[in-house]
Amino acid sequence: MSATHAAPPPPQQPDPSGSQEATHAAAQGATKIHVAGLGKVYAGHGKGAGVQALRDVVVDIRTGEFCCIVGPSGCGKTTLLRILAGLERHTSGVAQVRQDDPQAPLDSMVFQDQSVFPWMTVEDNVAYGLRRRGAAAAVMRERTDYYIAKVGLAAFRTAYPHQLSGGMKQRVSIARAFANDPEVLLMDEPFAALDEQNKALLQEELLKIWEETRKTVLFITHSIDEAIALSDRTLVMTARPGTIKSDIRNTLPRPRDPHGMKAHPAYAEMSRRIWTELRDEVVMHARRQQEAS
Ligand SMILES: Nc1ncnc2c1ncn2[C@@H]1O[C@H](COP(=O)(O)OP(=O)(O)O)[C@@H](O)[C@H]1O
Ligand SMILES: [Mg+2]
Repeated sequence: MSATHAAPPPPQQPDPSGSQEATHAAAQGATKIHVAGLGKVYAGHGKGAGVQALRDVVVDIRTGEFCCIVGPSGCGKTTLLRILAGLERHTSGVAQVRQDDPQAPLDSMVFQDQSVFPWMTVEDNVAYGLRRRGAAAAVMRERTDYYIAKVGLAAFRTAYPHQLSGGMKQRVSIARAFANDPEVLLMDEPFAALDEQNKALLQEELLKIWEETRKTVLFITHSIDEAIALSDRTLVMTARPGTIKSDIRNTLPRPRDPHGMKAHPAYAEMSRRIWTELRDEVVMHARRQQEAS
């Protein structure tokens, strides 16, 4: 079973089995997220030209995989996530999330900020998805309690977001996303606005929860270290129009220690590889911005 979001007639669908990435992922297990020949053009205003955000994106992500995406600003990372969440229509190709449990929500999203409802307490925020789905009160209570405790907010369950720090609000978002028990988690730079210490703590907490649940996660980040700390694979995107430029397997063992990982011999090599791929794209983006100004 699969859910295809707003799929328009695909004009040209390259055979995903022809790509290195797809072949690699298919060899490992069931495909949970399938993207092939995906394109997105935002319509221009009036006579203005449209913006091609994505072009021929091809990627398969298997069940239980933690996949990070890095790429220069404006290359279409958020657009890709929004298409997978059904919040944006693509203009060509295929974007599918396979639904294994018909009762489960297809996805939960976590954003950089503004993910929590300011008028709801911590517990009501965390229970939000379950309540909307009409979960039994006992189940809702149990799951909400479990994830509030997991992110260390038991003492704040009746607090409102304005009483919480930025890091605590992101903990609420993460607890809500996992409590909702979706098929896939889509996370768009969720820790980007946090200071380094809080970011490190949240990475550790996310890793612990993910180790328990092994959810399929697509996680966008600007940080190469964050991608290495969290991922099974890191996809590097080109400057706009965004497409997948390389697919770098993470060889660090799990469970991970985001702080201690730098001592591992594989860390320096992976960091260098990701930056080598990313660097040209960041330079290209910066050059275009200079030309446009
Ligand atoms: N609603 C929109 N209408 C027009 N252009 C958009 C819209 N959303 C994003 N874009 C453009 O599409 C490109 C990709 O945006 P986005 O997906 O937000 O990139 P990223 O998340 O990688 O920074 C950018 O050039 C951006 O300006
Ligand atoms: Mg973005």
